[in-house]
Amino acid sequence: MSKLIIILISLTLLVSCHDRNKSPQNAEMERFLDRLLKEMTLEEKLGQLNLPAAGDITTGQAQSWGIAQKIREGKVGGLFNISSLEKIREVQRIAVEESRMKIPLIIGMDVIHGYRTVFPIPLGISSTWDLELVEKSARIAAQEATAEGICWTFSPMVDISRDPRWGRVSEGNGEDPYLGSRISEAMVRGYQGDDLSANNTMLACVKHFALYGAAEAGRDYNTTDMSRIRMYNEYLPPYQAAIDAGVGTVMTSFNEIDGIPATANKWLMTDLLRDQWGFDGFVVTDYTAINEMINHGMGDLQQVSALALQANVDMDMVGEGFLSTLQKSLDEGKVTLAQIDQACRRILKAKYRLGLFEDPYRYCDEERSKTEIFTDAHRQFAREIAASSFVLMKNEDSVLPLKKGGTIALVGPLADNTENMPGTWSVAADFSQSTSVRKGLEAAAGNDVKILYARGSNVVQDTLFDSRISIFGKPTYYDTRDPAVMIREAVAAALKADVVVAAVGESAEMSGEASSRSDISLPECQRDLLKALLATGKPVVMVLFSGRPLTIPWEAAHVPAILTVWYPGTEAGHAIADVLFGTVNPSGKLSATWPQNVGQIPLFYNHKNTGRPLAPGTWFQKFQSNYLDIPNEPLFPFGYGLSYTTFTYGDLKISKEQLSGEDTLTASVDLTNAGPYDGAEVVQLYIRDLVGSVTRPVKELKGFRKVFLKAGETQTIAFKITPEDLKFYNYDLEYDWEPGDFDIMVGSNSADVKSARISWQR
Ligand code: NOJ
Repeated sequence: MSKLIIILISLTLLVSCHDRNKSPQNAEMERFLDRLLKEMTLEEKLGQLNLPAAGDITTGQAQSWGIAQKIREGKVGGLFNISSLEKIREVQRIAVEESRMKIPLIIGMDVIHGYRTVFPIPLGISSTWDLELVEKSARIAAQEATAEGICWTFSPMVDISRDPRWGRVSEGNGEDPYLGSRISEAMVRGYQGDDLSANNTMLACVKHFALYGAAEAGRDYNTTDMSRIRMYNEYLPPYQAAIDAGVGTVMTSFNEIDGIPATANKWLMTDLLRDQWGFDGFVVTDYTAINEMINHGMGDLQQVSALALQANVDMDMVGEGFLSTLQKSLDEGKVTLAQIDQACRRILKAKYRLGLFEDPYRYCDEERSKTEIFTDAHRQFAREIAASSFVLMKNEDSVLPLKKGGTIALVGPLADNTENMPGTWSVAADFSQSTSVRKGLEAAAGNDVKILYARGSNVVQDTLFDSRISIFGKPTYYDTRDPAVMIREAVAAALKADVVVAAVGESAEMSGEASSRSDISLPECQRDLLKALLATGKPVVMVLFSGRPLTIPWEAAHVPAILTVWYPGTEAGHAIADVLFGTVNPSGKLSATWPQNVGQIPLFYNHKNTGRPLAPGTWFQKFQSNYLDIPNEPLFPFGYGLSYTTFTYGDLKISKEQLSGEDTLTASVDLTNAGPYDGAEVVQLYIRDLVGSVTRPVKELKGFRKVFLKAGETQTIAFKITPEDLKFYNYDLEYDWEPGDFDIMVGSNSADVKSARISWQR
């Protein structure tokens, strides 16, 4: 495309944006905001930038006190994590009736994977590779939360992570920028809908901007450091996708970027976010992130607060640095009134767009809260999306699906636990309402199957460790009996059964915020249980709970069937029963690589080739890039997941081998369901750019389709590829494609593809 055309298109876009801003509605909003700002005192403006925690949920050390009085004095812009309609109505009433300016509060919450009806943790949702389900999960979450006064969610969390030691892997969408970007857009669409002022849509907040998932050594809140080229190509796309989808707010991350904490990083918050990406919503800090810059070594509270405002950060979560220091900074000429006005205006604008000035109680609807929350339809959807998120890792001798007959021994520390089923960050969940594996299996089994239950082991055989993971209302029910006694009991049940189902893995709070692990294997006491069960000679099915990829090479080698279920949410037990008994055929695929051991981390499929790549399929070669003690391959690759049926891929067909300019290439395969069950398969498209002006990854996901095929059915799955799919950020950070040869790959996971080479010239 010539430069002239690009300039013309940009001009047209600029003019149309300008026109949109000039629409009568916008002009009216701007006039309203002008009037409001003129009447506000400086103190009231700073109040709008203040987001204290007033809820039942707090993280960090900060305390909020005297909230009602502060609201009356106009010192509060919003509140978050209050899970009670009455309380929200009351604080809103104080704001609009008792404060001088009568400005409504914005009410936020960590509505991360569902509200009262809880869906799988985000890592699980991403494993569905089903964007319709993803969007619908956010839509339902918004419908439920907005019925109880909440109009702003701190979601989607789109931090790319390649380090499963980091506990917050559970809250994100895995390792891939393309999959992560599609999920990011879908979530924003689901929460915000087409009309933010509708009473059942809510403002989304993409987080944690930026690079939070790249914490060194996988230790939460740790330093990040990476090249710009890696940032642009591999870590930033999902945030940008949310911006392009119109997300209304952005949350800063705790970490530093290029030596400056994100919360005061002007390059990040102004040059990139606002100037390059055109973001026009407001930026909120993460919890006390301004104050934490004192520990980062950026100055005292006054200084770090000024730095954050100067960087273009608008709202201060919990720390009250803005509220308590900006007036002084203004007096001393360290910040300007225009900067304060701008931040305040952005927050007021969001409230306006939510319709709060028109009706501050529009999200407090007692009637809707009775009829639209935790409905049968929502629970049914929770069951569906949970079953779609499960990944069948292994199924030797077709142990699964289970027959609906005979005796099942159900064992394991997570078999009879309801509170852990929703997983981390389930702020609004009523834990007693979720279904345990035991309840789910019993309900599905009816009178045809006998179920014998035994606990078998603790989650961890260590009371100190256990106290760290039995938190937030999610007990592990530590059993003080001798572990050998518990194992004996489980073995006795196994010996009476035809098959053993072992519900093992991490408890919910072994992942999530501040839950990093240096050893991500199955706790030893659980492996001892598995060993004893396998020794009985009975077939063992491992139902594996986790909030991250785990290192389970021993289990993968010895246990015949493994189903990874993450934390499935409210309908856990029913969804697990659906898949174990084959009512639903598993179709989830991994959105993050599972390593063989922690020493391989970071391990990800879209790595560079290096100058000394190991020949495929080999292990050790001296002077090649590899390890003495372990192959380079992961235990389970990105995109991996089995089905009860067998999908076979025909040859990869490409429409042309030589392409030029704006041509479109079609790559297709015939996919056959060659097995005995109907089922869904995620067909994945990868591309490798063989020669570049900078080194390029060995493959990159560029498309996927989840298709349902009846047993015996064949479908042709076609991908259209254009030069847009070949683009990347070059050394000068220009986003463009380069002519040359490309490998086009289609397959069932990142390590199992059919490939064809093409040449694409300008
Ligand atoms: C800290 C977490 O990092 C963030 O994800 C969350 O939204 C806030 N706390 C508010 O609870």
